[in-house]
Amino acid sequence: MNFNITLLPGDGIGPEVVAAAVRALEAIARKFGHTFHFSERLMGGCSIDKFGMSLTDETLADCQSADAVLLGAVGGPKWDDPAAKDRPERGLLAIRKGLGVFANLRPVKVHPALINSSPLKAEKLAGVDMLVVRELTGGLYFGWPKGRDKKDGRERAVDTLEYYDYEIRRVIELAFRLAKARRAKVTSVDKANVLESSRLWRQIASEIGKANPAVTLEHMLVDTAAMRLITSPASFDVVVTENMFGDILTDEASVLAGSMGMLPSASLGVSGPGLYEPIHGSAPDIAGRGIANPVGTILSAAMMLRYSLKLEAEAAALEKAVDATICAGARSADLGGKLTTQQMTNEIIKQMQNGE
Ligand code: IPM
Ligand code: MG
Repeated sequence: MNFNITLLPGDGIGPEVVAAAVRALEAIARKFGHTFHFSERLMGGCSIDKFGMSLTDETLADCQSADAVLLGAVGGPKWDDPAAKDRPERGLLAIRKGLGVFANLRPVKVHPALINSSPLKAEKLAGVDMLVVRELTGGLYFGWPKGRDKKDGRERAVDTLEYYDYEIRRVIELAFRLAKARRAKVTSVDKANVLESSRLWRQIASEIGKANPAVTLEHMLVDTAAMRLITSPASFDVVVTENMFGDILTDEASVLAGSMGMLPSASLGVSGPGLYEPIHGSAPDIAGRGIANPVGTILSAAMMLRYSLKLEAEAAALEKAVDATICAGARSADLGGKLTTQQMTNEIIKQMQNGE
């Protein structure tokens, strides 16, 4: 089959890890007889440099008409001026909003061979297999009013945590659907003891819980969730939460997996192309050195095969190859090893070619 994939490599290590994922996808295409048409676009700091804005209409339109979008990372010290009109991250938020991808799926698994890469005790990590569903197009990131002004002779800054009922409902319903294909447990994370938006969140989660008795629903305050992620991470199955809480908790959860470089994500909307990106950032400190871990992006490409292209066998083959590569002892720098991005990718492709 033929598919159109838009690539947004972005900044820092983004281009390095996206190039690795393209190589893995090309190997999949050869093995399974597909054709992937890649179209590469600028987004983030590189787009500010070239076009004066982090996301152009043309790039957004190209993404909207693709079958799927694969993104590396955006941002870096070069564009960190707090007074700047545009920032790389704005492009990322605009593309998420423009594609309507309201649910960001971030699976967190601990590979048994990497248990010692995590600072947590091995016995805590056994059996960790969770899926964080982060709301992605609402909350503090997008709420209005937002901005800075002067009030009573003082400088003031405002962000607004705003949610409509339908935004909460659609993401929690998706979490429940996903839970049914897993261990049938949903942990809804909020701050209902303080925030009005969380009280609405909890009310809707309870309604959806009542309508889905086959799924166990638990409510958890975000501060408790932050603690439990460390003290009993294996107790989580599906976690669903608002945008900012999900951003923070998934960085925390990535420590379980040994490195941020391991973790993929898929962002899905009602219809239209999904957006796939590793959860790590642009890592300016190691950019250009060819040592970034490509696994998070390659596993994001596997999620793309599964969710947007509906190629389940191909997705599973890629995931199995990553698994086998880690089992065989291949390690990039973030995992304490010496393999470059290219070498890690070569190993994964080799494992795939050897797989059935
Ligand atoms: C993430 C990142 C982004 C976010 C930044 C780069 C805007 O941290 O994808 O988790 O906060 O969503
Ligand atoms: Mg983040």
